[in-house]
Amino acid sequence: MIWLIGCKGMLGSEVAKQLDEKKLPWVGTDKEVDITNPQALLDFTNKIETAAYFPSDLPKSDRKIKWIINCSAYTNVDKAEEETELAEKLNAEGPLNIARTARSIGAKLIHISTDYVFGGNGNQPYTEDMPKAPLGVYGRTKAAGEDAIMKEMNTYYIIRTAWLYGFDGRNFVYTMTKLMNSHDQIRVVNDQLGTPTYAPDLASAILRFVEKSDNAKSFFGKNSAPAYGIYHFTNEGQTNWHEFAKEIYRLGRKYGRITQECQVNSCTTEEYGANVQRPAYSVLSKEKIAKALKIKIPEWQNSLEKFIKNDRFNLI
Ligand SMILES: NC(=O)c1ccc[n+]([C@@H]2O[C@H](COP(=O)([O-])OP(=O)(O)OC[C@H]3O[C@@H](n4cnc5c(N)ncnc54)[C@H](OP(=O)(O)O)[C@@H]3O)[C@@H](O)[C@H]2O)c1
Repeated sequence: MIWLIGCKGMLGSEVAKQLDEKKLPWVGTDKEVDITNPQALLDFTNKIETAAYFPSDLPKSDRKIKWIINCSAYTNVDKAEEETELAEKLNAEGPLNIARTARSIGAKLIHISTDYVFGGNGNQPYTEDMPKAPLGVYGRTKAAGEDAIMKEMNTYYIIRTAWLYGFDGRNFVYTMTKLMNSHDQIRVVNDQLGTPTYAPDLASAILRFVEKSDNAKSFFGKNSAPAYGIYHFTNEGQTNWHEFAKEIYRLGRKYGRITQECQVNSCTTEEYGANVQRPAYSVLSKEKIAKALKIKIPEWQNSLEKFIKNDRFNLI
């Protein structure tokens, strides 16, 4: 049994969809099982392993929680600067509670983290072992969540991602599309480099960890399961927010999502005047995950096109 925490969020809902498609046994929770309350997490594990919770034909062995996938988090980067305590509770204490629960029931943990744990002053893709240097509250609390998991248990996969967008959640692609449909011109910053991530691509990588680990074989004492630890996943390539917005405009026009002309102008971060410092360079190296999972990661432009032309595209 897989327990998906944060199953109603943008990434969580995508993982849920793919779990259904793969017919893997799973159970999902969101805010109703509060990750900041350790007892609530433990109570839930006890509850789901009882016969009453599932149809009686579900084999007993399938009721045991073998995996926890945590997609819950405090994700509002700007608001985190004011709601420090809440961000701390959700991004640092929550993962600690989840790691303790996972360890107590012998489950493996997949946890999602962020490029914001880095300072963003590099010019080469960040590898997993590079030192963390978060700039704001969001990055600092996410870094603390990673540290708590690593201290608490060994059987974890922490996957850092960046610039995430998907069907069921507010994201840059939806925001730009709405702005482009209501303005003649917009301004987007051109001096922050990174790579967008299509939530279904990330969800698929997450479930590949589960499958590769569950189906692992040993040859001459070497196990084929991906090694536990930290991994990076985004789409391939790199861009800046202005170039990303221009591609959204081009594809939005092509597939009828944007129905009027809009000029997409560029500006610097300084000219834009944002109130939270964001990493200037946050390209993540994907070499480790591609090798461990034996996957070819899609280029960001191809995944963006899949998103914009999909029937599930729904400006929320
Ligand atoms: N979005 C990005 O651009 C981005 C970039 C890099 C990394 N990430 C990471 O990727 C992961 C998924 O992000 P996302 O954008 O899919 O997040 P999201 O849409 O904000 O989903 C998070 C979910 O957690 C729920 N939640 C909030 N408080 C909770 C609590 N106390 N107990 C249980 N669940 C709770 C939220 O409910 P409510 O919505 O009702 O609060 C929401 O359903 C996160 O770890 C995030 O840090 C995201």
